[in-house]
Amino acid sequence: MASEKTIEKEIPEKVFISRDKFDYDIRYLDTKLHRDDPALPMWTYANEELLELEYIECFLKTWQFAGHISDLQKPGDYIVFDMWRDSAIVMVGDDGKIRAFQNVCTHRASRLLDGVGCKKLIQCHYHAWTFNMDGTLKGITQPKEYPPCEKSEMGLNPVEFEIYKGLVFVKMVKSDCLTPAQQFAPIDDMLEAYNIEDAERVEGFGGQDWKCNWKLASDNYAESYHVPTGHPGLNRMTEMGREGGELETGVGFSIFRMRIRASKNLDEARYQAIIHAADDRVEHPVKRTWLNMSMHFNMGIELCGEVVSVFQVLPTGVDSTEVRYSMFGRKNRSKYEQELIELNYKIINQVNSEDKFLTERIQRGAKTQGYKPGALHYQEDTIALNHNNLRALFPVASLAEAPKWGTLAEQNENMLKHQ
Ligand code: FES
Ligand SMILES: [Fe+2]
Repeated sequence: MASEKTIEKEIPEKVFISRDKFDYDIRYLDTKLHRDDPALPMWTYANEELLELEYIECFLKTWQFAGHISDLQKPGDYIVFDMWRDSAIVMVGDDGKIRAFQNVCTHRASRLLDGVGCKKLIQCHYHAWTFNMDGTLKGITQPKEYPPCEKSEMGLNPVEFEIYKGLVFVKMVKSDCLTPAQQFAPIDDMLEAYNIEDAERVEGFGGQDWKCNWKLASDNYAESYHVPTGHPGLNRMTEMGREGGELETGVGFSIFRMRIRASKNLDEARYQAIIHAADDRVEHPVKRTWLNMSMHFNMGIELCGEVVSVFQVLPTGVDSTEVRYSMFGRKNRSKYEQELIELNYKIINQVNSEDKFLTERIQRGAKTQGYKPGALHYQEDTIALNHNNLRALFPVASLAEAPKWGTLAEQNENMLKHQ
């Protein structure tokens, strides 16, 4: 543990450059404000029928982060992406090509692989059918005992995937949703500077179960109004550069700048003091900042010099959510960068635990009889944006009361037709 004295000694002069040097190049960051739009009514946070529609439209039909290219380097390398009831494998074939499939045996639906690893073939745990690394069926045990069947049609079901700057995304169900590359196109050169491909998974990070509806975790991620009260540590270290921004392609963004004044907490002050060690990796005038990008409807990508982190909100029920946090650190990192990653994790882990506490308390209030949502602060503008997007898909969510049980999907369909 560093003492205050050593921190003081190690704080380089450039930490104290004047504030105007931190000015962020916001030429691309054109914002549209939504602050007059209302928040969703609270019944939408506790309704199973709505969740069924949301799961299809907001999760299965959108690009979901599955992992990093550093885990897909040689034939047989694979990543498993799990999301509630669904799962996908992204795997490198013998031919070096990457493919993605459903993580489900075509015989009797058994789950095939777990985690991240490398295999020469995929063998089902149940009746030992085998699949090649390109997803085709290799062998069936006791084949003579089956009626005649076409082996070439029994391979694993393909899943769409896209790799953008080393980040691997999958889409489980066909849709015309913009690809990650299209979504990030307006700031492509800025992201290029972070050299995201040049990273590797940092072990030991995973998911937390939050007892709240997925939208509460997403809403909370989108706004910074709660930071001073909810995250005293984050507030001691950082200040918001500019928030509530939205690219034309729908990506939201916010910028956290390290405060010039050192935090009174030693870990936080140490992070502030040595952040420049990783800043120099980024060839862009974005110094001493964290850049947070949010993708609809459930994802955040956080960029800083030493690490790229991905925050994911994945429903597991109407009032339960898996919040997954993945970190990808620089390869060949210096001891300062390693220290920054460890401090970053410690700080963010604290932030996530605070957010879990906050969102679970909202969930407890969500079913209160007669409660009506209040106005949104301008720092909650991204919530309004997200809710507008949800209302466009589910106009039924603009009703003050939940539709009668069993009628929500039909009512939504009718409202969509008459929009
Ligand atoms: S379920 Fe996979 S071989 Fe039977
Ligand atoms: Fe928070």
